[in-house]
Amino acid sequence: MMTTHCVRTIFRCLLLGAAVFLCATSFTPPLSAETGAEAWLRYSRLDRQTAAAYEQFPEAVVLGDSSVLKSAQLELVHGVAQMTGKTLRVSNILPDANALVLGTLTELRVLAPELRPPEKIKNDGYWLKMTNIHNHQCLIVTAVTDRGVLYGVFELLSKIARGENITSIDELQQPFAPIRWVNQWDNLDGRIERGYGGRSIFFADGKVRSDLSRAGQYARLLASIGINGCTINNVNAAPGVLEDSFIAQVSRIADVFRPWGVRLSISVDLSSPKVIGGLDTFDPLDPRVAEWWRKKVDEIYRKIPDFGGVVVKADSEGRLGPSTYGRTPADAANVIARALKPHGGVVLYRAFVYNHHLDWHNLKNDRAKAAYDNFRPLDGDFDDNVIVQIKNGPIDFQVREPASPLFAGLRRTNEAIELQITQEYTGQQRQLCFLVPMWKEVLDFDMRVDGNATPVKDLVARRVFHRPVGGFVGVANVGLDANWLGSPLAMANLFGFGRLAWNPNLKAENIIDEWTRLTFGTDPLVVKTISEMQLSSWHVYESYTGPLGAGTLTNILGNHYDPGPESSEDNGWGQWHRADHQGIGMDRTVATGTGFIGQYPPEVQVFYESLTRCPDNLLLFFHHVPYTYVLRSGKTVIQHIYDSHYDGAEAARDFITQWKAVEGHIDDERYRDILSRFQYQAGEAVVWRDTICNWIYHLSGIPDNKGRVAFQAQAVSDQHN
Ligand code: GCU
Repeated sequence: MMTTHCVRTIFRCLLLGAAVFLCATSFTPPLSAETGAEAWLRYSRLDRQTAAAYEQFPEAVVLGDSSVLKSAQLELVHGVAQMTGKTLRVSNILPDANALVLGTLTELRVLAPELRPPEKIKNDGYWLKMTNIHNHQCLIVTAVTDRGVLYGVFELLSKIARGENITSIDELQQPFAPIRWVNQWDNLDGRIERGYGGRSIFFADGKVRSDLSRAGQYARLLASIGINGCTINNVNAAPGVLEDSFIAQVSRIADVFRPWGVRLSISVDLSSPKVIGGLDTFDPLDPRVAEWWRKKVDEIYRKIPDFGGVVVKADSEGRLGPSTYGRTPADAANVIARALKPHGGVVLYRAFVYNHHLDWHNLKNDRAKAAYDNFRPLDGDFDDNVIVQIKNGPIDFQVREPASPLFAGLRRTNEAIELQITQEYTGQQRQLCFLVPMWKEVLDFDMRVDGNATPVKDLVARRVFHRPVGGFVGVANVGLDANWLGSPLAMANLFGFGRLAWNPNLKAENIIDEWTRLTFGTDPLVVKTISEMQLSSWHVYESYTGPLGAGTLTNILGNHYDPGPESSEDNGWGQWHRADHQGIGMDRTVATGTGFIGQYPPEVQVFYESLTRCPDNLLLFFHHVPYTYVLRSGKTVIQHIYDSHYDGAEAARDFITQWKAVEGHIDDERYRDILSRFQYQAGEAVVWRDTICNWIYHLSGIPDNKGRVAFQAQAVSDQHN
């Protein structure tokens, strides 16, 4: 019998052959080579006519001299010089020519007391306004904070790079929520958990790297999309990060973040008071433990005055937590929150708390219920500088999940949504999967709290229950690879996360259009081709790895990448799909299943509980159905699974053809690099298709009505006889 491994090896050989052939035969004129290090901040040279439109300002007036304003000034001068070839003259006093004027509103009012923004600018918001100051045409970039000014400069440069008309600009932008952070899962030895872009930019061999230039460049990238916080180490935290000597090293990272307005935070291990503090307990209600945290946090702020706070993963996947002492997550979060409070820091306590030794045989058990079961009873018990950090779905970053019901379950507790930028279950940057459309489905999902329109984005951004703080966290995991995430097209996910955290009402189409123009230039063919490929890629990936909401049918015990549907079953991890000879899917109904659906507000319950109303794309997440169950499309479940895998593999192959359209329109380096990735992905999609189709055919015994799967199985067995 031909094994998956054989199929894959044959494919890889064919693809390698194809790649060699391609290298030998194709020729494209060399546009300048790109490593991807500049990401979307390339500021490539504009054509003469476009550049001329921006050359009316020979001067930049910068009001103030903080390090953040300095960054804004340098960025502006650099960006304008790159794009137009003209170097701005910089001054700190009244403009004596047409000028770009940067400064906070307070500074600006000295120059132009009559200037009034159309509405109150909030923290980190900014206003871009063309106006006249002392008889000179001025484009002002102003805000209430220096960080807002920096964000305004990045936005202005982005507009110039995309050739937007700014002649009568009057644009005020406010961030949707105060927390816009990334988490990095970097280990102190330099490896990154679920990182696919090389080693850590922060750590090597148990220490903070001596060369932190990439960390500084990362902060610049983050600032350019409005991200204001970065947690530098793995949520599976090494206690050693809190050693005083280590904090001194970490402060060097904060130093390179600061000029970009990015606040540093760290993940902490709850057992630290015992493991490194020498106490005989880490019980959060023990006064000695409270005192330990207080002293530790004071020490951190002595070295890092703008420290953002801490992220906590506890009682999860083998990590110690408050349950050791019969205490709650609120007890654990509050003891640290009280130490942080006088300094303005926050605790992001992860709701990813579950038992990974669940009894698979018990049909009532359900990992999806864990976050709500653990946190909902504690609503109101958390201090006001604690934020519960909730993964978008109730399981774990699968290719499709419903929104976590916990978003609707907390009213008196701050929340943040945790999205995964690094493509752990979605192709690990080796396959194209633009996640913004997926994130938008969750952010826009209306929870119908109290029967009202309450989309997830409004819940996390405090627009519903008016909680003190909340927002967005993205697990980024960039590394030392030149292009950060290990793949040029995957960078759209980092960009898209930042844009959505700033404004979740932006459309996926606009986000990808912006990113493509900034990353590859404004050639309409390039913009159209790349945008369309990105926008279709999540559905393509889903269709051959986990259609109908069954979860990503990957090897969950190993790499989370290859197909491995059997690995989900018969173990305690709870990523079950319960496929057997009769049917497939988790029965999560209140009527006959695990009762998970009962965690949603009533209107959502009714929707998911009903087999006929539940959307097909989440059917197997909520219901166990026979393979012969007929979907809305008129197809049976089994036929849908076969067709979806074949269509998906074909769509992945089509990416190669689509991509070839941009040959000669972008630099050859990136063209060829990305082409080889699509060739590889086409092979992987076939491996997925054949593995899943054969597995489900053997389980169900129901042939594919188009003769592909049964035929293939027959051919393999004939070959064997
Ligand atoms: C996933 C991932 C782990 C990670 C965990 C988390 O399970 O595979 O590597 O530690 O999520 O979010 O804590």
